[in-house]
Amino acid sequence: MANIKKANGLMDWLDQRMGIKKLIEVMMTRYWIPKNINFLWAMGVVLLVLFSLLFISGLFLLMYYKPDAKLAFDSVNYTIMQEVAYGWLWRHIHAVAASVIFVIIYIHMFVAIYYGSYKRGREVIWIGGMLLFVVFSAEAFSGYMLPWGQMSYWAAAVITNLFGGIPVIGADVVEWVRGNYVVADATLTRFFMLHVCLLPVVILALIAFHFYSLRVPHVNNEEGEELDFEAEQEKYLANKKKESKVIPFWPVFLSKDIFVVSVFMIFFFYLVCYHFDFAMDPINFDPADNLKTPLHIYPEWYFLWSYEVLRGFFFSADLGLIAFGIAQVIFFMLPWLDRSDVVAPAHKRKNFMIWFWALIADLIILTIYGKLPPEGINTYIGCAASIGFLFLMFIALPIVTIMERKQGGVK
Ligand code: HEM
Repeated sequence: MANIKKANGLMDWLDQRMGIKKLIEVMMTRYWIPKNINFLWAMGVVLLVLFSLLFISGLFLLMYYKPDAKLAFDSVNYTIMQEVAYGWLWRHIHAVAASVIFVIIYIHMFVAIYYGSYKRGREVIWIGGMLLFVVFSAEAFSGYMLPWGQMSYWAAAVITNLFGGIPVIGADVVEWVRGNYVVADATLTRFFMLHVCLLPVVILALIAFHFYSLRVPHVNNEEGEELDFEAEQEKYLANKKKESKVIPFWPVFLSKDIFVVSVFMIFFFYLVCYHFDFAMDPINFDPADNLKTPLHIYPEWYFLWSYEVLRGFFFSADLGLIAFGIAQVIFFMLPWLDRSDVVAPAHKRKNFMIWFWALIADLIILTIYGKLPPEGINTYIGCAASIGFLFLMFIALPIVTIMERKQGGVK
């Protein structure tokens, strides 16, 4: 039995019962972060804030949304947007956060690639992050279906149809996923369950896993310097704060993060109030109609690059499907496709730097052409960019990094 004494305050009361002081030390005041990092390392916390906003705004939307193919469209476009007080605000926050979170996820991923933060002990952090990316993609896709507009319906029809490419059992899988021969009420209700129940729980668990996996290897820093965290923390605790290369997560590091989050929030609420339309497709303001196929079907901007990889192999639907499947999982393999163990910023790794920007350029081209109709020259540019993507990942990256290793590291 614990030795319970009269507490001198709430903290002490909790500490006697739950060891809360130790917990705060482990999680906050004695969790060490390198000093040498810039604002790009705040993106993880920005993501956490955006996810919280999605969660809270989602709860408000859930009070009025009707997961029924006959009622869903009106419940969003009339009830929430026009009848419920401030319903429009919660919807705009939800839609803008859903789009902006992908901007920040891509920045967070590419910062990690730029600084080599996915290797030499940080592989599990990377894999946890990639799992978050995949589950967030499923969350966004299932959410996009819920307003039951034209694009919700037809994007769902196209994407669920992709399972038809699985040999032998493809047609049965499509029917199983849809719960019907076509996208219908049963499809809406199962995607609703995924969106509001199963996937958010998985995301919460993965965020906890991602944070836990940061504890042992610690976050990287701008120079990729391997720090002796024990020694540096001793210096800090011995009041040699200037000499120490680390700071505690709370209150020092988090105060910097809160500054970045605050600046970001100004930008975010500017979008919510004045430019929310960028996150909503005009075609989705027409109710779903299974007899009227839109002229041109495309997914949200964050899926366009992989959608273009699917369409890029226009001469073979099977090849397109295989390339699309690879595009979804290839980044999981990054720590092993990179054959060098140099952890340094790309600007100190000449050939890697060229590879990095070539990859960004290729992904931008894929995104732009993913939105254009696949006609004439567009088809060939899309094809070249898709082959380019596979080349950059499977051939160029191993070659560049093997060369780097043979040359003995950073030149
Ligand atoms: C909602 C999703 C995510 C959240 C809340 C999140 C949160 C965080 C936080 C707070 C950090 C520590 C500070 C920082 O570097 O920003 C971090 C680090 C990291 N994250 Fe994420 N992350 C998410 C998604 C991802 C994704 C999609 C990837 C990549 C596939 C990823 C890969 C990494 C890596 C490699 C690090 C270590 C960075 C370093 O050592 O410098 N994360 N994440």
